[in-house]
Amino acid sequence: MLRNKMILSELIKGWGLDATNSGELVIGGCNSIALGNIYGTPLHVVNEARLRATAESFLRTMKSKYPGEVSVHYAFKCNPVPGIIKIVKDAGIKAEVMSEYELMLALKLGYSGKDIIVNGPYKTDPLITTCLKNNIRLINVDSLFELEKINCICNELNKSVEVLFRINPDFVPSGMNNGSEAASRTGSAFGLDLKGGEVMCALEKIKGMKRIRFRGFHFHIGSGIQDTDDYRKAIMGLKKILNDTENSGFNVDVLDIGGGLGVPNSCEMTTLELLLYQAFDILHSRKLSNNKVSFAHFADSVTKGVLSLFGDKKIPELILEPGRCITGPNQLLLLKVHQVKNRKGLKKWLIADAGIGTLTMPTYYEHHEVVLCNNIRRKASEKVTINGPGCFSADVVYRNKLMPKVAAGEMLAILDSGAYFTSWESSFGFPRPAIVSVINGQHNLLRKRESFDHMISLDTIEYLSQT
Ligand SMILES: Cc1ncc(COP(=O)(O)O)c(C=O)c1O
Repeated sequence: MLRNKMILSELIKGWGLDATNSGELVIGGCNSIALGNIYGTPLHVVNEARLRATAESFLRTMKSKYPGEVSVHYAFKCNPVPGIIKIVKDAGIKAEVMSEYELMLALKLGYSGKDIIVNGPYKTDPLITTCLKNNIRLINVDSLFELEKINCICNELNKSVEVLFRINPDFVPSGMNNGSEAASRTGSAFGLDLKGGEVMCALEKIKGMKRIRFRGFHFHIGSGIQDTDDYRKAIMGLKKILNDTENSGFNVDVLDIGGGLGVPNSCEMTTLELLLYQAFDILHSRKLSNNKVSFAHFADSVTKGVLSLFGDKKIPELILEPGRCITGPNQLLLLKVHQVKNRKGLKKWLIADAGIGTLTMPTYYEHHEVVLCNNIRRKASEKVTINGPGCFSADVVYRNKLMPKVAAGEMLAILDSGAYFTSWESSFGFPRPAIVSVINGQHNLLRKRESFDHMISLDTIEYLSQT
């Protein structure tokens, strides 16, 4: 009983959730079971007040702790749902985009070009052209090839642009798995390497490019970082390139340290955990609570790094591109258990209406809490495999997850589903779910559930039947 009480208070504390007297999960003052019945499952549920408060708190904390200019740009890729971006925008956060679609969305949502930063290794000619036509604030250059391309388009259009160079500080954050820790390693798919002289070569080139102005550097060391001191260490690693850059006649006025800050109650599996899980079905059940991943710790670590890197020199404008730490903890995904397969001597399956094949891709490599919405006090008592609806064996949410006894028709919630769940979504023969925001007991539809007609709306054949 004591343990169950603890679980409830942990949930309330960690996720801003609540429960009815009978134990039904409540989010934003709305009963999760009622939401699932009204809108159908699966269903994304966004905690609007908490999302707004998180975005405001990030901005406020950075501005109060960093002694120079600060710009915060939300990484659209993390959760590109217009209704969610609008809440983040209303909190005063600008935009970071990496595709023509995201740029179109930012402009449509009312961001001015001066509030947008463009990133990524796939900047097409139309994307660069749209950037220039809309006087985008900064393009973060990914390669020498891209620098030449931007220069050509600037010359064709008679337009100028300011740029940062994305660089690989060859810094590997702690606790990440081998796949995702590669983002800022030497030789990664992204950016210019510090080793091998690519950055100095790009600076030499830019001297002859009259329409391109170098403003500084950008890096992104990974997503879901749990040790905020990693930012200080990564920034400190720029000492040599900062000196070399200044010696070749350039100032570093802007430093964009990307996104990546993790959240307290979910995290990536380490390489070992991922190996054990994928190879032997051993799901590590670690305590999901790391209170050190706070905005204050993050801001302190970044500020310390910049102050010690720049010493007596003028400190740069700091740009941040958070995604996960803003949206991640403020959304949950409701699933319904369609069938419980409980055969003697065999493992137990919960067949649910979403799995990694459709909606839960991050559960392939991240630890998330999964709770029983019908009664969050029901005690965890057995290991089950929660399977998705797809007809393929990898379509699981989790294998060997410790859960309470669940009956067919009951609902589950995957917590912290606000980062990279909607971005990864695929149909796999099922309509994509609705997205609803909740606040003070009210619910508001942000995106309708896909209909079968939507699913075939772009196909060009003629159907023989109207049904
Ligand atoms: C360049 C860049 N900036 C920002 C982000 C956002 O990262 P996160 O959602 O972990 O904060 C990403 C994510 O991959 C990225 O690649």
